[in-house]
Amino acid sequence: MLPRVPVAIDDARMQEANRWLKSRGFSWAEIAPRIDLVGNVWLKTEWFLERMDRVAARIKDTPPVDDLDVLIRLFVLQLPVTSKRFDETIPAELASSVEAMGLLTRHEGRVEAPVAVLEHDGIFIVSDTFKEMADDLALLPLGDQFPFVSTITRCPGERYLDLCTGSGIYALLRSRTNRDVIGVDINARPLGFAEFNRRLNGIDNVRFMKGDLYKAVSGKFDIISANPPFFPDREHPTEKRGDFCHGGAAGDLITNEILEGLDNHLVDGGYCFVLSFSLYWKDGSVNPNWPRMQAKGYDILQMSNAVPLDDPTVAPQGLRDALRVGAERIEFGPCVFRKHAGEKRAGWLARAPFVEKLGFDVHDLFGALSTAGTDDARDEITRSYFKRHA
Ligand SMILES: C[S@@+](CC[C@H](N)C(=O)[O-])C[C@H]1O[C@@H](n2cnc3c(N)ncnc32)[C@H](O)[C@@H]1O
Repeated sequence: MLPRVPVAIDDARMQEANRWLKSRGFSWAEIAPRIDLVGNVWLKTEWFLERMDRVAARIKDTPPVDDLDVLIRLFVLQLPVTSKRFDETIPAELASSVEAMGLLTRHEGRVEAPVAVLEHDGIFIVSDTFKEMADDLALLPLGDQFPFVSTITRCPGERYLDLCTGSGIYALLRSRTNRDVIGVDINARPLGFAEFNRRLNGIDNVRFMKGDLYKAVSGKFDIISANPPFFPDREHPTEKRGDFCHGGAAGDLITNEILEGLDNHLVDGGYCFVLSFSLYWKDGSVNPNWPRMQAKGYDILQMSNAVPLDDPTVAPQGLRDALRVGAERIEFGPCVFRKHAGEKRAGWLARAPFVEKLGFDVHDLFGALSTAGTDDARDEITRSYFKRHA
């Protein structure tokens, strides 16, 4: 059974917990090298989990070296810590606040974390851990999210919509550059985590709403983002299952609905960021359907790397099934769509490998790409832009 969703308590105590995590150096920059996660971190969650299991096995019988080590064991590696060591790490009053929030439990002289806590760019994200699986879990932000976070960082705008928000990670990160932010999810559980995370980080300009994609919102947005469910699902080829991972036969059911909705929900000149698998079928077609979006006048930047399908820790079964039924190559990464602001014309497509930690300015790059005459020239501009900005 999944643990209970964390409970927000009064703001002052939540802010105290936030400050304390920061004071102990609980940041991704400090955590990553301690759990052997330096280098290429763009691949799938399963890959991270396998690595973390290895680290956990290596250190579990040795005592923590410092307070940060205690926190990493509890919140990242999901290892128990003795109550004695934990009580040396955290002031008693704060410990009782953190327990009241449901971030920790005590049992027979041990302290454990039923949920995960991670840090992205100064924001703490509490989520489920993947120890228990369920359709409506709040996705652990340790995998898919890395390429996406670095892609969406430099795109200011007034109204921001994050579809399939899960733990709320992108909505909360974008609260700094976008005045009014909405995160939407179809499931109550991830929304409970998202709202908890909003309170933990003391953020006021983000609202979380329950609903099926755009049905929860009205009006147009300057920026729309989504990390939708996108695993191919042969058992439910045409069904939106409302879970965290499945996206119909080719995995693109929900992605396509999001893209179709841009006509009504994205302002002219606005950007949409979608994280997806791109399946290249043996008949030469590609999924999701970029040509259709181009014909409607959207410019597209696809940043993706080939998924190593022979590695089961990276490629889930659904993808290997897709290969059997006719995909010859599968790529993974963030794609950016821009809706034309002026006169209607067919959009262009630029493609480049995804490079970790881009943090690029999307207006800047799309401006440069618009001056190019051919797709080849655009690919070249993108590659050299990334070389300069990576
Ligand atoms: C892959 S997870 C992404 C979560 C989060 N954005 C992240 O990157 O960590 C997909 C999320 O979409 C939600 N979801 C699935 N179908 C949906 C729908 N039709 N409308 C809104 N949200 C949906 C799931 O509950 C899940 O939280």
